[in-house]
Amino acid sequence: MHLPDLNVAKDRTRKENVYIDLKEDYQKVFMGKKYFLRTYGCQMNVHDSEAIRNYLETLGFVKTERVEDANVVVLNTCAIRENARDKVVGFLGKCHYLKKNRDDFKIVLAGCMSEQPDFIENILKNHKYIDIVIGTHNIHELPKLLLENFNKQEIEVYSNSDEIIEGMHYERDSKYTAWVNIMYGCDKFCTYCIVPYTRGRERSRKLEEIIKEVEDLKKAGYLEVTLLGQNVNAYGKDIGDTFSNLLEKVAQTGIKRVRFVTSHPWNFTDEMIKVISKYENIMPYIHLPLQSGSDRILKRMNRRYTKEEYLALFKKMKEMIPGVSITTDIIVGFPGETREDFEETLDVVKTCEFDGAYTFIFSPRVGTPAALMEDKTSLKEKEERLYELNNLVNYYSHQSNQKLLGKEVSVLVIGESEKDKSKVYGYTDTMKLVNVTGPKELIGKIVKVKITDAKSFSLDGEYQKEKIVM
Ligand code: SAH
Ligand code: SF4
Ligand code: F3S
Repeated sequence: MHLPDLNVAKDRTRKENVYIDLKEDYQKVFMGKKYFLRTYGCQMNVHDSEAIRNYLETLGFVKTERVEDANVVVLNTCAIRENARDKVVGFLGKCHYLKKNRDDFKIVLAGCMSEQPDFIENILKNHKYIDIVIGTHNIHELPKLLLENFNKQEIEVYSNSDEIIEGMHYERDSKYTAWVNIMYGCDKFCTYCIVPYTRGRERSRKLEEIIKEVEDLKKAGYLEVTLLGQNVNAYGKDIGDTFSNLLEKVAQTGIKRVRFVTSHPWNFTDEMIKVISKYENIMPYIHLPLQSGSDRILKRMNRRYTKEEYLALFKKMKEMIPGVSITTDIIVGFPGETREDFEETLDVVKTCEFDGAYTFIFSPRVGTPAALMEDKTSLKEKEERLYELNNLVNYYSHQSNQKLLGKEVSVLVIGESEKDKSKVYGYTDTMKLVNVTGPKELIGKIVKVKITDAKSFSLDGEYQKEKIVM
């Protein structure tokens, strides 16, 4: 284990340059070797993987889609629920098998699982074949660790770094849409959640750094940025700034589309709502996790709002932001959740008619308060609640999609449809997935599409020739 340099922590911001200085040495060693990268978890991890990819490719590694062909396998892991961990452990088994009889097959474990002390203990006991473990705070050390420790197991995880590394480079997955970190960590400590432990305390990037990144992306032809944080509303608290100010400045760069995830309902300010409704390039889409509709459960979850407060905020958003679409996250079977509590959740779903919802069964995480709470509800009953909830949620997503039938919407086309090569796909302003009948040339453009069919999870549409919105 290694602790961050205290001088750096005081100043907080550090420019990334570690690997650039040594690039040539590294390249001699790694040139032409192959890497396989698999990402689990949320947008944060997807974006971190873009940094990992950049490091690997700068060092000379070439991407492979076949794990069997790799010289280095990087698993960027998620710890949010047990099934996320199970998937990684399953894949590690395959890697372990492939590694037998090969000395040029290295396994790197990165991401949130690396930050869980119980998992590190498990690695030391049961997964000795893993070569390198890095955490969420020291991705920038991957090149150094790869070079210096290629031949021995090395666990290098900071448990809670306060520093921010600026000047990171990303090998982005898309040429049109980009993730932009605005802050790291989370201080909310919802009682079920592992994120404050795996990602550390809330710390915001400086506004100038974020704006510069967005401007550079715009110059490079990007049409959309998504500002990323576990709770973007908390942006700036630690540096005397606010999310509404940042959002406004980002909108003023003139980039075509601005999005953000995720917002906690607790401190979603009127100022934020005003800015969203004022700028056309801020997309009318908000992901507003509910978790539960029962005040009793919300309290046990430490969510800091009541059902009534959630509903009031929801209503205000609908009134003040024309055409806004709102999606949510819901947990069923939190310890102590009764049928009555669950019905309160169903009631909110019926009132809000969400455009979409991600639903989960509560999964106890070691080290969180909820893992120690008494839980009498059987898994079977939880599964039945989930099923009932999903039926309701899907009904409303379908309804909200149906409302778009025959309408013309703007779609940023981002790729060719995998199932049907005569189609392309993209997202509406309100973040709905649309499969569009139209030529490949539409990729990378914002176009008008007429909606011809509406399902629960996607829309079909036809490109309206005369209307390209640029
Ligand atoms: N920062 C985001 C949430 C990130 S985790 C936010 O606060 O909105 C994404 C979702 O996973 C959460 O909203 C929650 O619904 C779910 N989740 C988190 N921990 C969980 C657990 N222990 N069991 C089940 N679901 C969980
Ligand atoms: Fe987890 Fe709550 Fe923080 Fe979201 S706000 S990351 S659910 S602790
Ligand atoms: Fe998973 Fe870590 Fe994201 S636990 S959900 S990858 S912050």
